[in-house]
Amino acid sequence: MRFLGNDITPFLRKIDKVGLREIQQRYADSPENYAKYAEVERWLKRHRQNVRRLGLDDSPPKSILDLGCGGGFFLFLCQQIGHEVHGLDVDDFPLLRELVDLLGVPRTVWRIEAMKPLPGFGRKFDWITAFSTRFNRDAQDRHVWGEAEWNFFLDDLARHLAPNGKIFLEINAGKSRNFYPEEVRELFRRRGAKLEGNYVLFGDGSRRG
Ligand SMILES: C[S@@+](CC[C@H](N)C(=O)[O-])C[C@H]1O[C@@H](n2cnc3c(N)ncnc32)[C@H](O)[C@@H]1O
Repeated sequence: MRFLGNDITPFLRKIDKVGLREIQQRYADSPENYAKYAEVERWLKRHRQNVRRLGLDDSPPKSILDLGCGGGFFLFLCQQIGHEVHGLDVDDFPLLRELVDLLGVPRTVWRIEAMKPLPGFGRKFDWITAFSTRFNRDAQDRHVWGEAEWNFFLDDLARHLAPNGKIFLEINAGKSRNFYPEEVRELFRRRGAKLEGNYVLFGDGSRRG
Protein backbone atom coordinates (compact mmCIF):
# COMPACT_ATOMS: atom_id res chain seq x y z
CA MET A 1 0.00 0.00 0.00
CA ARG A 2 1.47 3.33 -1.01
CA PHE A 3 0.95 6.45 1.11
CA LEU A 4 -1.37 9.05 -0.40
CA GLY A 5 0.09 12.07 1.44
CA ASN A 6 -0.76 15.75 1.11
CA ASP A 7 1.41 16.41 -1.90
CA ILE A 8 -0.12 15.56 -5.25
CA THR A 9 3.22 16.05 -7.09
CA PRO A 10 4.39 12.41 -6.91
CA PHE A 11 1.16 11.36 -8.62
CA LEU A 12 1.40 14.09 -11.25
CA ARG A 13 4.90 12.82 -12.03
CA LYS A 14 3.43 9.45 -12.94
CA ILE A 15 1.48 11.02 -15.79
CA ASP A 16 3.02 11.37 -19.26
CA LYS A 17 3.85 15.10 -19.27
CA VAL A 18 3.96 15.49 -23.02
CA GLY A 19 0.69 13.67 -23.51
CA LEU A 20 -1.02 15.76 -20.83
CA ARG A 21 0.29 19.06 -22.22
CA GLU A 22 -0.90 18.07 -25.68
CA ILE A 23 -4.41 17.36 -24.35
CA GLN A 24 -4.49 20.58 -22.34
CA GLN A 25 -3.43 22.66 -25.33
CA ARG A 26 -6.08 21.11 -27.51
CA TYR A 27 -8.88 21.82 -25.03
CA ALA A 28 -7.60 25.21 -23.80
CA ASP A 29 -10.16 27.20 -25.81
CA SER A 30 -12.91 24.63 -25.88
CA PRO A 31 -16.36 25.99 -24.96
CA GLU A 32 -17.40 22.46 -23.93
CA ASN A 33 -18.28 22.22 -20.19
CA TYR A 34 -16.29 19.01 -19.77
CA ALA A 35 -13.10 20.79 -20.99
CA LYS A 36 -12.66 21.68 -17.28
CA TYR A 37 -11.50 18.10 -16.74
CA ALA A 38 -8.25 18.89 -18.57
CA GLU A 39 -7.19 20.68 -15.37
CA VAL A 40 -5.81 17.41 -14.05
CA GLU A 41 -4.08 18.79 -10.95
CA ARG A 42 -7.28 20.45 -9.69
CA TRP A 43 -9.30 17.24 -10.10
CA LEU A 44 -6.66 15.02 -8.56
CA LYS A 45 -6.69 17.28 -5.50
CA ARG A 46 -10.45 17.10 -5.31
CA HIS A 47 -10.54 13.32 -5.63
CA ARG A 48 -7.74 12.90 -3.11
CA GLN A 49 -10.35 14.07 -0.59
CA ASN A 50 -12.72 11.37 -1.80
CA VAL A 51 -10.05 8.69 -1.43
CA ARG A 52 -9.62 9.84 2.17
CA ARG A 53 -13.34 10.19 2.83
CA LEU A 54 -13.75 6.50 2.00
CA GLY A 55 -10.72 5.48 4.06
CA LEU A 56 -9.07 4.05 0.95
CA ASP A 57 -5.78 5.74 1.82
CA ASP A 58 -5.59 3.52 4.88
CA SER A 59 -6.93 0.18 3.73
CA PRO A 60 -5.70 -3.13 2.34
CA PRO A 61 -6.09 -3.41 -1.45
CA LYS A 62 -9.73 -3.28 -2.55
CA SER A 63 -11.48 -3.68 -5.88
CA ILE A 64 -13.34 -0.54 -6.88
CA LEU A 65 -15.90 0.17 -9.59
CA ASP A 66 -16.54 3.86 -10.27
CA LEU A 67 -19.71 4.70 -12.23
CA GLY A 68 -19.56 7.80 -14.42
CA CYS A 69 -15.80 7.79 -13.83
CA GLY A 70 -15.19 10.84 -16.03
CA GLY A 71 -11.47 11.49 -16.54
CA GLY A 72 -10.62 8.66 -14.12
CA PHE A 73 -8.97 10.86 -11.47
CA PHE A 74 -10.42 9.07 -8.44
CA LEU A 75 -9.54 5.65 -9.84
CA PHE A 76 -6.07 6.77 -10.90
CA LEU A 77 -5.26 7.76 -7.31
CA CYS A 78 -6.76 4.52 -5.98
CA GLN A 79 -4.73 2.49 -8.47
CA GLN A 80 -1.55 4.34 -7.60
CA ILE A 81 -1.90 3.48 -3.92
CA GLY A 82 -2.51 -0.21 -4.58
CA HIS A 83 -6.20 -0.77 -5.27
CA GLU A 84 -7.63 -2.63 -8.27
CA VAL A 85 -9.87 -0.30 -10.25
CA HIS A 86 -12.43 -0.24 -13.02
CA GLY A 87 -14.41 2.66 -14.46
CA LEU A 88 -17.66 2.88 -16.38
CA ASP A 89 -18.76 5.82 -18.48
CA VAL A 90 -20.36 6.79 -21.75
CA ASP A 91 -18.03 7.61 -24.62
CA ASP A 92 -19.65 10.92 -25.62
CA PHE A 93 -16.69 13.14 -24.73
CA PRO A 94 -13.34 12.52 -26.47
CA LEU A 95 -11.50 14.37 -23.68
CA LEU A 96 -12.70 11.89 -21.04
CA ARG A 97 -11.56 8.97 -23.21
CA GLU A 98 -8.17 10.64 -23.73
CA LEU A 99 -7.79 11.23 -19.99
CA VAL A 100 -8.61 7.68 -18.88
CA ASP A 101 -6.20 6.41 -21.52
CA LEU A 102 -3.50 8.83 -20.34
CA LEU A 103 -4.03 7.83 -16.70
CA GLY A 104 -4.14 4.11 -17.54
CA VAL A 105 -7.56 3.59 -15.99
CA PRO A 106 -9.48 0.58 -17.40
CA ARG A 107 -13.00 1.53 -18.40
CA THR A 108 -16.15 -0.11 -19.70
CA VAL A 109 -18.08 2.09 -22.11
CA TRP A 110 -21.69 1.85 -21.07
CA ARG A 111 -24.70 4.12 -20.71
CA ILE A 112 -26.53 3.68 -17.43
CA GLU A 113 -30.25 3.81 -18.07
CA ALA A 114 -33.28 3.61 -15.85
CA MET A 115 -34.46 0.03 -15.27
CA LYS A 116 -31.60 -1.46 -17.29
CA PRO A 117 -29.08 -3.70 -15.52
CA LEU A 118 -25.37 -2.94 -15.66
CA PRO A 119 -23.20 -5.22 -17.79
CA GLY A 120 -21.30 -8.13 -16.27
CA PHE A 121 -17.76 -7.34 -15.11
CA GLY A 122 -16.64 -10.92 -14.45
CA ARG A 123 -15.88 -10.07 -10.82
CA LYS A 124 -17.31 -8.45 -7.72
CA PHE A 125 -16.26 -5.20 -6.15
CA ASP A 126 -15.52 -4.15 -2.57
CA TRP A 127 -16.58 -0.63 -3.40
CA ILE A 128 -18.95 0.79 -5.98
CA THR A 129 -18.71 4.57 -6.16
CA ALA A 130 -20.20 7.39 -8.19
CA PHE A 131 -19.14 11.01 -7.81
CA SER A 132 -21.16 13.96 -9.03
CA THR A 133 -23.75 11.70 -10.64
CA ARG A 134 -25.27 12.54 -13.99
CA PHE A 135 -26.73 9.18 -14.98
CA ASN A 136 -29.88 9.63 -12.87
CA ARG A 137 -31.52 12.05 -15.32
CA ASP A 138 -31.94 12.25 -19.05
CA ALA A 139 -29.97 14.58 -21.32
CA GLN A 140 -32.57 17.36 -21.08
CA ASP A 141 -33.05 16.94 -17.30
CA ARG A 142 -36.71 16.29 -17.96
CA HIS A 143 -36.83 12.87 -16.41
CA VAL A 144 -35.08 12.49 -13.07
CA TRP A 145 -34.87 9.14 -11.27
CA GLY A 146 -37.34 8.66 -8.47
CA GLU A 147 -37.85 5.84 -5.98
CA ALA A 148 -38.59 3.10 -8.56
CA GLU A 149 -35.51 3.78 -10.71
CA TRP A 150 -33.14 4.01 -7.73
CA ASN A 151 -34.64 0.89 -6.19
CA PHE A 152 -33.98 -1.08 -9.37
CA PHE A 153 -30.49 0.35 -9.66
CA LEU A 154 -29.53 -0.47 -6.05
CA ASP A 155 -30.86 -4.02 -6.38
CA ASP A 156 -28.76 -4.37 -9.51
CA LEU A 157 -25.62 -2.95 -7.86
CA ALA A 158 -25.97 -5.58 -5.12
CA ARG A 159 -25.20 -8.25 -7.78
CA HIS A 160 -21.79 -6.68 -8.32
CA LEU A 161 -20.78 -6.28 -4.69
CA ALA A 162 -18.39 -8.62 -2.88
CA PRO A 163 -19.43 -9.74 0.62
CA ASN A 164 -19.29 -6.68 2.93
CA GLY A 165 -19.05 -4.48 -0.16
CA LYS A 166 -19.94 -0.82 0.15
CA ILE A 167 -21.59 1.75 -2.07
CA PHE A 168 -20.78 5.46 -2.00
CA LEU A 169 -22.73 7.97 -4.07
CA GLU A 170 -22.23 11.69 -4.36
CA ILE A 171 -25.50 12.88 -5.82
CA ASN A 172 -25.47 15.97 -7.94
CA ALA A 173 -28.64 17.40 -6.42
CA GLY A 174 -28.99 20.28 -8.87
CA LYS A 175 -29.50 23.94 -8.03
CA SER A 176 -32.97 23.49 -6.57
CA ARG A 177 -32.18 19.97 -5.31
CA ASN A 178 -34.63 18.61 -7.89
CA PHE A 179 -32.25 15.83 -8.95
CA TYR A 180 -32.36 14.46 -5.38
CA PRO A 181 -35.99 14.42 -4.28
CA GLU A 182 -37.06 13.61 -0.73
CA GLU A 183 -38.63 10.30 -1.81
CA VAL A 184 -35.18 9.18 -2.96
CA ARG A 185 -33.57 10.23 0.32
CA GLU A 186 -36.20 8.25 2.17
CA LEU A 187 -35.56 5.22 0.00
CA PHE A 188 -31.82 5.44 0.67
CA ARG A 189 -32.47 5.66 4.42
CA ARG A 190 -34.85 2.71 4.28
CA ARG A 191 -32.20 0.70 2.50
CA GLY A 192 -29.74 1.41 5.30
CA ALA A 193 -27.73 4.34 3.93
CA LYS A 194 -26.14 7.09 5.96
CA LEU A 195 -26.88 10.45 4.34
CA GLU A 196 -24.78 13.54 4.77
CA GLY A 197 -25.54 16.42 2.41
CA ASN A 198 -25.23 14.92 -1.05
CA TYR A 199 -23.19 11.95 0.18
CA VAL A 200 -24.81 8.54 0.46
CA LEU A 201 -23.00 5.64 2.08
CA PHE A 202 -24.29 2.10 2.14
CA GLY A 203 -21.72 0.73 4.57
CA ASP A 204 -22.93 -2.82 4.20
CA GLY A 205 -24.33 -3.16 0.72
CA SER A 206 -27.91 -1.92 0.55
CA ARG A 207 -30.97 -3.61 1.95
CA ARG A 208 -33.98 -4.12 -0.30
CA GLY A 209 -36.30 -1.10 -0.09
C1 LIG B 1 -20.21 15.55 -13.61
S1 LIG B 1 -19.28 14.31 -14.40
C2 LIG B 1 -18.42 13.57 -13.01
C3 LIG B 1 -17.22 12.80 -13.43
C4 LIG B 1 -16.47 12.09 -12.30
N1 LIG B 1 -17.36 11.19 -11.58
C5 LIG B 1 -15.84 13.08 -11.37
O1 LIG B 1 -16.39 13.30 -10.27
O2 LIG B 1 -14.77 13.62 -11.69
C6 LIG B 1 -20.52 13.11 -14.78
C7 LIG B 1 -19.98 11.87 -15.45
O3 LIG B 1 -21.04 10.94 -15.65
C8 LIG B 1 -20.98 10.44 -16.97
N2 LIG B 1 -22.33 10.05 -17.35
C9 LIG B 1 -23.38 10.86 -17.64
N3 LIG B 1 -24.47 10.14 -17.95
C10 LIG B 1 -24.10 8.84 -17.86
C11 LIG B 1 -24.77 7.61 -18.06
N4 LIG B 1 -26.07 7.59 -18.40
N5 LIG B 1 -24.10 6.45 -17.89
C12 LIG B 1 -22.79 6.47 -17.54
N6 LIG B 1 -22.09 7.61 -17.32
C13 LIG B 1 -22.74 8.77 -17.47
C14 LIG B 1 -20.41 11.58 -17.78
O4 LIG B 1 -19.88 11.14 -19.00
C15 LIG B 1 -19.38 12.13 -16.81
O5 LIG B 1 -18.17 11.45 -16.90
